[in-house]
Amino acid sequence: MKGRRPSLRRRLGVVSAAAVAVAVIGVSVAAWLLLRDQLSDVVSERLDRQVGYAVKMDSAGMRSTVQSSGPDTPLYQTVFPDGSSLTPVGQPSIPVSATDRQVARRELYDTHENVKINGTSYQVLTRWIHTKQTGPNGHAVQIAIDLSEMNGTLANFGLILALTGGVGIAAAGVLSYWLTRAGLRPVDRVVAAAEHVASTQDLSAAVAVDQQDPDEVTRVAESMNSMLNALGASRDAQRQLVEDASHELATPLTSLRTNIDLLLRAENHPERRLESADKQRLLQDVQAQMHELDHLIEEVVELARDPRTGEEVEEIDLAEVVRSAMTRARARTPQVSFTLMETPAVVRGQANALERAVLNLLDNAAKWGPPGIPVEVLVRQWGASAEVKVSDRGPGIAEDDLERVFERFHRTKEARQMPGSGLGLAIVRQVVQGHGGRAWMSRRDGGGTDAWIQLPQVGPAATAL
Ligand SMILES: Nc1ncnc2c1ncn2[C@@H]1O[C@H](COP(=O)(O)OP(=O)(O)OP(=O)(O)O)[C@@H](O)[C@H]1O
Ligand SMILES: [Mg+2]
Repeated sequence: MKGRRPSLRRRLGVVSAAAVAVAVIGVSVAAWLLLRDQLSDVVSERLDRQVGYAVKMDSAGMRSTVQSSGPDTPLYQTVFPDGSSLTPVGQPSIPVSATDRQVARRELYDTHENVKINGTSYQVLTRWIHTKQTGPNGHAVQIAIDLSEMNGTLANFGLILALTGGVGIAAAGVLSYWLTRAGLRPVDRVVAAAEHVASTQDLSAAVAVDQQDPDEVTRVAESMNSMLNALGASRDAQRQLVEDASHELATPLTSLRTNIDLLLRAENHPERRLESADKQRLLQDVQAQMHELDHLIEEVVELARDPRTGEEVEEIDLAEVVRSAMTRARARTPQVSFTLMETPAVVRGQANALERAVLNLLDNAAKWGPPGIPVEVLVRQWGASAEVKVSDRGPGIAEDDLERVFERFHRTKEARQMPGSGLGLAIVRQVVQGHGGRAWMSRRDGGGTDAWIQLPQVGPAATAL
């Protein structure tokens, strides 16, 4: 089984503690090395200062001075070119290395070396000298200083560095864990809110946003709130549609049921038998109501459809879309004539959805336009937009109603006698807005209505027509 990843706050805590550890260890090692070099320099200087004494000892054949032995007392020795050495009585002898012999033979002037004598570390200075006693070729003297004290100081310093560094690293780990915990607390709030929404489906549960002190988490919370708002609005819209639709379906269904009841009763009771003309009229009513129901259901389904799914988005010529909508409109209402003025206008969109939108405008114009006067259709580029205008010479729409006709099921008073459910323009606006455009109605000069669709144009902006 795959192990669970440690939590983000634990990982952040470990990472920052590791960063502190690297810095502390680096600084400690540098400080320790620096101190060691400094102390070693001090010893070298001391050796240099005291080498004169070694020369004096050498002149006396390493015998003149009584050696007071102790850790602070330097050791002395004479080294001859053949490698043999002379040490004061009672003093341990200093090991003679090959380099020391080179110095004694005057191949080198002097050398500093660290050696161990009886288990104790010493720094040794070996220097070539040339005096009356040494003869013409000279030889070397050695002086050695005990490094125990320096090494002790270095060890203590190292220990102090390790201890303070260790405590510092541990403290940094705890502190960064605590800080990331505190820093991630707002994330916990967002997570809790998301989990609440997931478990209760309550889209109104907004995440608390700290406006006083906005940070990245505030932006996450704000985006989540706007997402919840958008989802909530869409769910409300769907619910509203279902409620409105069932309410609207009730009316044609009731009259349908009444008519069918009437027909059945007449069939079952010979004394109530209907005249053939009456029966014919009732049956035609039933047929018309069936059509109305059919149309209504089609429109409700159209409105409920998610515009982002299904049809492919592509570059299309709006004039072509309008021509094909006009062909369908002519087939539906052969008694109405339609005229078209067009310039090519390319848009990105879903051809079928746009065609349905245009067809709704043509249907309306055909429905309200007086017989004999053609419905005029215009397609053009206008600046950075592609526009469709459908104009009729019907009764027009009152100024107050120009916007409300786009509401679902809204029909003007005059329109109640006409067939229709008041969903057509709602569909038009939904499709057009889904394409990033606008749809509106205006009163036409000289009477009638202009219905407009405006979409973003693809390609260079142009003004034509
Ligand atoms: N060209 C027009 N002339 C006059 N009134 C119009 C015109 N187009 C729309 N309207 C008014 O706007 C209302 C809403 O139109 P919409 O197309 O949404 O519904 P509808 O045509 O009544 O029914 P549906 O289109 O759903 O079959 C209409 O009922 C009518 O009152
Ligand atoms: Mg309509």
